[in-house]
Amino acid sequence: MSRDDAIPAPGQAGPGSTAPASMDAFWMPFTANRQFRRSPRLLAAAEGMYYRDVEGRQILDGTAGLWCCNAGHARPRIVEAIARQAATMDFAPHFQMGSPLPFELAGRLKELAPRPLDHVFFTNSGSESVDTALKIAIAWHRARGEGQRTKLIGREKAYHGVGFGGISVGGLPNNRKWFGPGLPGVDHMRHTLDIGRNAFSRGLPAHGVELAEDLERLVQLHDPSTIAAVIVEPISGSAGVILPPPGYLKRLREICDRYGILLIFDEVITGFGRVGAPFAAQRFGVIPDMMTVAKGLTSGCVPMGAVFVSDRVHEAFMQGPEGAIDLFHGYTYSGHPLACAAALATLDVYAEEGLLTRALELEDYWADGLHALRSASPHIIDIRNYGLIGAVELAPREGAPGARGYQVLEQAFRRGLLVRTTGDTIALSPPLIVERRHIDDMFSMLGEVLATV
Ligand SMILES: Cc1ncc(COP(=O)(O)O)c(C=O)c1O
Repeated sequence: MSRDDAIPAPGQAGPGSTAPASMDAFWMPFTANRQFRRSPRLLAAAEGMYYRDVEGRQILDGTAGLWCCNAGHARPRIVEAIARQAATMDFAPHFQMGSPLPFELAGRLKELAPRPLDHVFFTNSGSESVDTALKIAIAWHRARGEGQRTKLIGREKAYHGVGFGGISVGGLPNNRKWFGPGLPGVDHMRHTLDIGRNAFSRGLPAHGVELAEDLERLVQLHDPSTIAAVIVEPISGSAGVILPPPGYLKRLREICDRYGILLIFDEVITGFGRVGAPFAAQRFGVIPDMMTVAKGLTSGCVPMGAVFVSDRVHEAFMQGPEGAIDLFHGYTYSGHPLACAAALATLDVYAEEGLLTRALELEDYWADGLHALRSASPHIIDIRNYGLIGAVELAPREGAPGARGYQVLEQAFRRGLLVRTTGDTIALSPPLIVERRHIDDMFSMLGEVLATV
């Protein structure tokens, strides 16, 4: 029996393996709940590259769950580490109290990260990582006697999670408009998606480096002495895969350096091997002052996030009396033992299987298959790729934006493929254990589906 065939059949996988008696009580996140209940898509088991749904159908995971299961599903080493830790010590407080694992994990993460990102603050999600990084940025300026630097600059179409900080610097209108004014003193650069000039680029788009000059303009508008930090995703994932033109991130770094502004990379999606290096900062050769991560940190097995902080930023908080708390911030579950155990085992799997650089080896094969989809449908208006990330953008149906994308999601699932959609953009980001045969199957199924919409 191959590993893929070993996924338990429905009813054999214990609790949660069959459809629930009622679906009334769980208010699902980012979901059209009433539509979903009429035609549910219920996953019940997972192993390696595959899910199985409650009806027993095998579903190829084209999205690493939700951009997170980079090591694939149910890896025995990770499963055992979590189980062992749960039996050894379920929880430990980390406010003025400690336990060994978060120290060990932070040390391992420091080795993976670019210098000088030498310090790690643990959170439980990408959203918490973003809010943590924004707070550290503002507090850092205050600690250095520049308390007037409180403004934050994000970017249109950015996704930085759903906390008030994250939606304020984020740039997705639907995520912002329902929830009031958000943080004061936030402005946004333009995004770098330019289908008019860059459609069907392979890899990074040629045009748009000049958009980095938006930062210079905003800095002048607000006055440099008021700005604390700039936050960007090196590659925007959730908005439908938006890539930086060559030189764009480097230019942001230069402008931040010139005006004493901190640069934060949100690597919640790009971190842990997605683009062929441990972090996108390394692949792009641009090092931020802070880096937010989550998802691939534990391969999605246990919720965990982290903020990498540079030596220079960390040092400013270590100047007060030794007995004074240096950062008034933290979560009950910062450095949770189960999450640490999962993360340490995940890092072992990444290292042993070379997964953090595997995307580099597969990138060309991936791009070939993805771009070959272009002929599958006349409605395809762009295809974008980088590392093991792909996006196919469809023209919206008149008067029904998002309908075509949703149809692809639905039909692909029924056909045996998990994809992610944002509006009419289909995004792909398979587990990094993906093999060529999976890539072939993925694009073959997606091509068939695209032909029908
Ligand atoms: C770049 C980025 N930042 C933050 C988040 C939020 O992460 P979480 O859903 O774990 O809060 C996401 C989630 O997709 C993300 O893509």
